[in-house]
Amino acid sequence: MSKPELFLAYPQLEKTIPFIPMGSYPTTVEKMTKLGEKLGYPSLWVKRDDLSSTKLGGNKVRIMEFLLAAMKASGKTVAISPGALGSNQILASGIYGHDLGFKIVGVFFKQCPTDYMCKHMMIDKTMGVEFNHVNSPYLVPFVILYQFLKNFDWGKMQFPFYIPTFGSSATCALGYFNAMFELKKQIAAGLLPEPDYIFVTAGTGGTMAGIQLGTKVLGMKTKTVGVRITDYVACNERIVASILNRAVKHLRKGGAALPELRFKKSDISMIHEFFGGEYAKITDEALAAKKLVSEIENLTLDTTYTAKTMAAMIKYLKDHDLKDKNILFWHTYNTKDLTRFLDKNLGGKDLPQPFQCYFK
Ligand SMILES: Cc1ncc(COP(=O)(O)O)c(C=O)c1O
Repeated sequence: MSKPELFLAYPQLEKTIPFIPMGSYPTTVEKMTKLGEKLGYPSLWVKRDDLSSTKLGGNKVRIMEFLLAAMKASGKTVAISPGALGSNQILASGIYGHDLGFKIVGVFFKQCPTDYMCKHMMIDKTMGVEFNHVNSPYLVPFVILYQFLKNFDWGKMQFPFYIPTFGSSATCALGYFNAMFELKKQIAAGLLPEPDYIFVTAGTGGTMAGIQLGTKVLGMKTKTVGVRITDYVACNERIVASILNRAVKHLRKGGAALPELRFKKSDISMIHEFFGGEYAKITDEALAAKKLVSEIENLTLDTTYTAKTMAAMIKYLKDHDLKDKNILFWHTYNTKDLTRFLDKNLGGKDLPQPFQCYFK
């Protein structure tokens, strides 16, 4: 599919909103029969965005289709991309940015170690991402500012493009707004019933915002529940409502015949208790949820994002009597094997000195 569903629904947007196809859609929806039996929920589903493209899975693919297209349309070729050491957003910008001939300047900050962290850094390196290490989170804005000045294009009189942390902005929300048209088609085709609840990871809330906007615009009964996996200052109900409002403005400005929708923080449902106190910290609940769905559903989750979301969803379903409801878990983590992106001749020693300690 080269034309996004969004442009079929609002043809005016094709002229105003840049888009580069990267994914393989629709991603499948599957019934989680065994988990459903275990929990007493006969209508429990998963949307397999972990396999969202032939290259790389996860939620960043749908986001990059709009974000890197906006970068290309701006005529910029250098992007500043801040993120944690194992950032999926730097990884996706690196892989897709490499295809488009962009230079990605990574501004990396520390995170709790995870099994994928070093692998992602090595792929970033292979994709030509520039490595800049920041010791303290308080210094991140200064390093970003420094990189903006350093990469100023004097020929075009342009600052570099900015890829926000976790890839979230009104433009990013378009990725999952677009995905909701795909889901709606799958519902119409009888592949799954209309969900009463969608559970999705919230890192900055862009993905969740896109889904919630879709449910509203498409007149669905669905309640979107975000599971926060970052600090409260980075992700909360107010931020998600603000992304939603900016996305509506952006779409209306682009010519979409949308009503002037306004979202308030009270419109947003978010679970905060499964974060674990620190980004990427591995919690017992996440480990247990990861093990459970791996054993009974053969689904692979990660401990930073999707296993925390699964743990929160399981607890929510146990605490509320929703057994007659349709529940959808939106899988957002890549499960495609990425080893083909690794250059066997490169190792941790090939990264700048401040990064080498993570490879010991
Ligand atoms: C695997 C995965 N799932 C979910 C999210 C959350 O996305 P958002 O920042 O749009 O809330 C992220 C963000 O980095 C992610 O990497």
